[in-house]
Amino acid sequence: MSVLIKGGRVVTATDTTVADVLVEGERISLIGSSLELEADRVIDASGSYVLPGAVDPHTHLDMPFGGTTTIDDVESGQRAAARGGTTCHVDFCIQAPGTSFSESLATWKAKAEGKQLIDMGYHIAVTDLHEGGSLEELASLPAEGITSYKLFMAYKGALMVDDETLFRTMEVAAETGALVMVHAENGDAIDVLVKKALAEGHTEPHWHALTRPPETEGEATNRAIQLARVAGCPLYVVHVSCQEAVEPIMRAREAGWDVWGETCTQYFFVDYTFLERPDFEGAKYVYTPPPRDKANQDVLWNAVRTDVLSAISTDHCAFLWDGQKTLGRDDFSAIPNGGPGLENRLQMIHHFGVGEGRISLNRMVELLCTNPAKLFGLYPRKGTIAVGCDADLVIFDPEKRHTITAAGQQSKTDYNLYEGTEVVGDVETVLLRGNVIVDGGEVVAQPGIGQFVKRARFGEQLDAAAVTA
Ligand code: URP
Ligand code: ZN
Ligand code: ZN
Repeated sequence: MSVLIKGGRVVTATDTTVADVLVEGERISLIGSSLELEADRVIDASGSYVLPGAVDPHTHLDMPFGGTTTIDDVESGQRAAARGGTTCHVDFCIQAPGTSFSESLATWKAKAEGKQLIDMGYHIAVTDLHEGGSLEELASLPAEGITSYKLFMAYKGALMVDDETLFRTMEVAAETGALVMVHAENGDAIDVLVKKALAEGHTEPHWHALTRPPETEGEATNRAIQLARVAGCPLYVVHVSCQEAVEPIMRAREAGWDVWGETCTQYFFVDYTFLERPDFEGAKYVYTPPPRDKANQDVLWNAVRTDVLSAISTDHCAFLWDGQKTLGRDDFSAIPNGGPGLENRLQMIHHFGVGEGRISLNRMVELLCTNPAKLFGLYPRKGTIAVGCDADLVIFDPEKRHTITAAGQQSKTDYNLYEGTEVVGDVETVLLRGNVIVDGGEVVAQPGIGQFVKRARFGEQLDAAAVTA
C-alpha cells in the first residue's frame, strides 16, 4: 500500500514546509516538492497541515481505580485518541500489590489483546517492592521495552509509595537507563486534611481541591527532584498544575539537571470554580492534582512556551458521571479521581495555544509529538516527519470548525470537560504506519491494527538506523 499526500504544509518541531509526502508500506519513503508519482491513494492536503501523529505519554485505560474501573477500555480509548490525532500513547500498567511486575504486565497486555487501534507502550507503576516485584525484576524491564518507572507520592492507602520505595526505584533507574516519573503530591499531609474536612462535615466536590493545596504539590515536586539528584536518575514530573510545582522544575532545569515536566490540557482551561458547580456537576472535574485558581493557567502557558514544561499529555482517566463519579455523592474523597481528554488535546491546544498566539505551531508539535516521543524512547520512529520514520501522520485542517460535545465523542464517558467549546481547526485524516485510520473525520480503523512498541531507554533512539533524514 502506498499513499501520496500532496501539497500540505508539513510541520515538525523545527520546520514548516509545503511538500509532498510519499508513504510506502509502514514508513515515509520520500519528501519532496511536486512529486509526480503513482500511489494507491493520493490525498490532496493543500490548505492543511501535515503533522506527526501525536504521542500521549500519560493515559489510564481499563484501569481499576477509586473503587471502580475507568470507563474507556483500550478500544474506546484508542478510538478517541485516533479521532483526536494521537497515533501512539503510553499507558500505565499498575503493579497489583503482592504480585510481580511480569504478572501485572501480562494482565495489562491481555486487556489490549485484539483491541488496539493505535500503537502503545507501557510505563510500569511501582506500588510494592516488599512482597511483590523485586529490584532485580524492575531492573530487567527496560530490556523488554518498559523503559519508565512511575511512582505515586499520593493516594495514601492505595497507590502511594513511601520515600524508601521511591528512592530505591530511582537507584535502579540510574543503573538501567529508565526514566522515573512521579505523581508529586504529599499524600500523608493530604490524608490528614481529607480526614479533618470530612470530620467537620465537608462532603462536596470542591473539598477535593481544598484538601490538596498547591503547596503539597510543590513540596513533593521538590522532594522528588532532590532525591533524583542523589540517586542520579532522570526525572519526569507528571501533570504539573500550579506555580508551586513549576518553580522547582524551573530551578532544576536552569541548573542543568535531568528534570522534565508535563502538564495536561485540562489545567489550561478548567479552574477551581468548576468544582463548585451545583447539583454534583463539580464531580466531573475531580481529578488530581485538582483544578487550580485561574492565575495558574498563565503560569502554565508561560512554562510550556519557555520549555520549563516540555510536554502536554491528557492524563485520560475517564469515568461516567452518572454511576461512577456519583459513588462520592456524600463524600468527596469517594469520587473516583480522573477526567477524560484523549480526543480533544490537539483541537484545544491548536485553537487556544496556536490560534490565540500563546505558542507557535512548531512548539505545539514539539509539546504534543516530538518531546513525548523523545522522552519516552519512541523517537525518531514516532514524533516527527522524516524519511524512514513510521508513517504516523495527521492531516489537520486549520479552518475546519468543530463543536466539542459528549454526544459526538468516541469516549464512552457521559460528559466532556470542554462541552460546547467551538474550536477552529480539526483532524481530517490520520495514518498509522501507512494505514488510514481516520478518514474525513471518521474513525475507520479496525481493532487489532495497533501494536505494542518496545521503547528505547532514556536518551536512546528507537530504530534510529532506519531513519535516514
Ligand atoms: O485524577 C487523576 N489524575 N487520575 C489518574 C491517576 C493519576 O493520578 O494520574
Ligand atoms: Zn497522577
Ligand atoms: Zn494519570
